[in-house]
Amino acid sequence: ITFIPIKNIENNVVAYLVSYIDNYTIHNIYKHFYHKVVITFFIFLIIIYIIYKNKLQDILRLKKSKRITAELQKQIDAFDKNVIFSKTDLKGNITHVSEAFCKISGYKSSELIGRAHNIIRHTDMPKDAFKDLWDTLKSGRRWSGEVKNRKKNGDFYWVLSTIERDYNDKGKHIGYYAVRHIITAQKKVEELKIELEVINSNLEDEVSRRTSEIVTLNKEIQDTQKEVVFTMGAIGETRSKETGNHVKRVAEYSKMFALHYGLSAKEADMLKQASPMHDIGKVGIPDSILNKPGRFDEAEREIMNKHAQLGYDMLKHSDRPLLKMAATVAYEHHEKWDGTGYPNGLKGEDIHIYGRITSLADVFDALGSDRVYKKAWSDEKIFKLFKDEKGKHFDPKLVDIFFDNLDDFLAVRDSLKD
Ligand code: C2E
Ligand code: SIN
Ligand code: SIN
Ligand code: SIN
Ligand code: FE
Ligand code: FE
Repeated sequence: ITFIPIKNIENNVVAYLVSYIDNYTIHNIYKHFYHKVVITFFIFLIIIYIIYKNKLQDILRLKKSKRITAELQKQIDAFDKNVIFSKTDLKGNITHVSEAFCKISGYKSSELIGRAHNIIRHTDMPKDAFKDLWDTLKSGRRWSGEVKNRKKNGDFYWVLSTIERDYNDKGKHIGYYAVRHIITAQKKVEELKIELEVINSNLEDEVSRRTSEIVTLNKEIQDTQKEVVFTMGAIGETRSKETGNHVKRVAEYSKMFALHYGLSAKEADMLKQASPMHDIGKVGIPDSILNKPGRFDEAEREIMNKHAQLGYDMLKHSDRPLLKMAATVAYEHHEKWDGTGYPNGLKGEDIHIYGRITSLADVFDALGSDRVYKKAWSDEKIFKLFKDEKGKHFDPKLVDIFFDNLDDFLAVRDSLKD
């Protein structure tokens, strides 16, 4: 049912036209018409398809292939720009180089094509590196290795090169192709590392050479010191006609006293070396006095006593530890614990321990030995004097050490008899 409004001039609806249409009829007309159209359209499509089937496929293929070609070209361009790529013929003459190859090597492609590949070889590369390359390639395997190449301007660049046989479409071996990455930075780091290692090992050699030089020199100095010291002691000994073993015994006793007193092993050893010099000053005493076969008078005694100061004056200028020690020993070996000794009348611990020790060692040995002016004393007489002089002539602690280790001292005396 359709209502159609009827309007007057003022556009007001004044009446309605009412129309009725049979619904069934409309439905049938519509249905038939629709079927015809649909069927006709399909037949049309089938005809079109049959006619254009091949053309259509071609069009689609072309479209796809254009897209792929463009994509491929992009990749080839990127490859060419970024990959250091080259091809050679069977003889190793260049047939193709990438843009990246030209850029890194500094050559134009026209300067490279047709040339032997070794145009970019650096003279630093060992010959046998390429022997391996060719052996590998000839046997049909792929070769990979680090190669130092030379730019047109003479600079170098390092590459990790991978080279393989190149075949044509028919599978014929026509040459070689190579791709490379730049490894110059890594190589530079490696070279610097090696350089550094060489420098370090040279440095180590140098240090150990110097060290052994110093050790040798030190030993020489020490040996020289020992020799000087011993020679000086021996001079004193010869001059005063005392026996050869006297200075050796004083040396041994002094070391024993030093160790028991608590000095270090090193100091005790030094004292063993320095103590033989205690009477070096006797070289400055006239023979007539030094070797007088009898007792001194007051004047002779006074002259004799100068040997301590004389010895000190001879040695005091040295900076060598051993000679410094010897100077102290020479200076203070006749000082007495109670302050009645010479040359300075020092008292107690003001007397250097080296002086106190050598004094005891010296007197013990002098008393037990024959001298031009006296006979050797008996042990009882010696021990009595030591007991009497404890705290007077001698440091009481050292007298205790002497008696506590008497057997050891006597054993040394026996082993170094005159
Ligand atoms: P020296 O003979 O090696 O004696 C060293 C020290 O041992 C003496 O130092 C003294 O403290 C002690 N001593 C040695 N013999 C005796 C002794 O018979 N009795 C006593 N009580 N102590 C003795 P000193 O006295 O300062 O003498 C230093 C050095 O002077 C002596 O070394 C010796 O070379 C020399 N000397 C000392 N008195 C005489 C002497 O009357 N005649 C001669 N020719 N030389 C003497
Ligand atoms: C050659 O120098 O012959 C080869 C060098 C390279 O492939 O980089
Ligand atoms: C010496 O003449 O070398 C040593 C004499 C002493 O110990 O008094
Ligand atoms: C001393 O006891 O100081 C001198 C040594 C001696 O007169 O024998
Ligand atoms: Fe002396
Ligand atoms: Fe002496």
